[in-house]
Amino acid sequence: MNLADSNNLINWKRYSKAGSIALGAINLNDNLLIKGDNLVVLETLLPFYKNKIKLICIDPPYNTGGNKFNYGDNVSHTEWLNFMESRLKLARNFLSDNGIIYIHCDDRKNAYLKVLCDGIFGRDNFITNLIWRKKAGGANDSQDIAVEHEYILAYRKNKNGIYKVPLDDKTIATYKYEDEKLETHGKYKIKDLNDPSLSDSPGLHFDIECPDGGILEAGEYQWKCNQSTFLKRLNDNRIIFKKVNRKWKVYYKIYLNEQRGKLHYDKDGNPVQRGRNLSSILYNIALNKDGSTDIKNIFDGEKPFTYPKPVKLIKLLIQSATKPGDIVLDFFAGSGTTGQATLELNQENDPRTFILIEDKDFIQDITVPRIQKSLDLYNSNESFVYCEYNGFN
Ligand SMILES: C[S@@+](CC[C@H](N)C(=O)[O-])C[C@H]1O[C@@H](n2cnc3c(N)ncnc32)[C@H](O)[C@@H]1O
Repeated sequence: MNLADSNNLINWKRYSKAGSIALGAINLNDNLLIKGDNLVVLETLLPFYKNKIKLICIDPPYNTGGNKFNYGDNVSHTEWLNFMESRLKLARNFLSDNGIIYIHCDDRKNAYLKVLCDGIFGRDNFITNLIWRKKAGGANDSQDIAVEHEYILAYRKNKNGIYKVPLDDKTIATYKYEDEKLETHGKYKIKDLNDPSLSDSPGLHFDIECPDGGILEAGEYQWKCNQSTFLKRLNDNRIIFKKVNRKWKVYYKIYLNEQRGKLHYDKDGNPVQRGRNLSSILYNIALNKDGSTDIKNIFDGEKPFTYPKPVKLIKLLIQSATKPGDIVLDFFAGSGTTGQATLELNQENDPRTFILIEDKDFIQDITVPRIQKSLDLYNSNESFVYCEYNGFN
């Protein structure tokens, strides 16, 4: 079965950073950009991608009533829910067993979409309702309460498929010390070994002898680990004694490349940095205006699309739910932010594939050039394949 043989998809073209190139064979790990109504395009793609998509990341029209941007954004509430229901039911079939779906929405639609998704994906598969802070300030311009956030509903198909995301630069900078383990373990930071906030346990109370022979007594301190772990850490040069206000304090080292006491390696055998769990409040990631800057950077200062999502936000979502080799599907592609975010990750030697679907004519003037310019921006040797749903116009 070959996707290019499907009668439903026509006008195939392949683009590289240099422009249109020979089409060649189409593989399931080709990046795809398809023009057409997502319902019929998804139906066409399903036999090829059933249970194969690791992440669906969509930003559907919020149905704000404006219809300013020809989003199909001005329908009745029931129509909107029916529209979403048919597409989400179909979309679920694409997800792998540990597949994840992220759905952007605003606070007016969130409750309804949550109930709809509970019915489609199962209440037990609801992960959380991420809160994305999309703008800062402007409170005095609001009529009543300044709404600074949107939501991203997160569901799994069946099994857990959320991964740790990379630490941000500010956090990485806190790992500033070096020792003999630098090459493998990276830099380290230190943390107080005394932690009275832990629930009391006799195993966490023991005497510690300081470098000058003084004793920190069991009765006064509650350490973060038991004595045998402490001694192992001491012998492995993972404990630091420091005098603070003329009193000894004990610290333990946390290495940048160690996760739960273990080193992890990439496919080239290099140690990888520890990650962090994504937290449900996406506070200082990127704002709406960063999405505008991203697209302006691609289109020489012009802004051909209103309110694209910020690349940084989408990149983080992709990192949280995919590993190299996985496919990301966005069937409300708009200007193609999901494509650009995937290519940005791929540039960091983290290859993923995208499938984008968008039904509006602007795809030719905005989405295709944006993805092509992104290939150039990231000096990527990848290509993407464009095609159209037959009989769409
Ligand atoms: C909110 S925008 C997505 C913006 C995108 N996240 C970005 O950063 O550019 C929603 C998009 O879905 C598209 N859309 C709406 N209904 C569609 C349909 N039935 N099939 C395909 N695309 C559709 C709209 O044209 C619009 O571009």
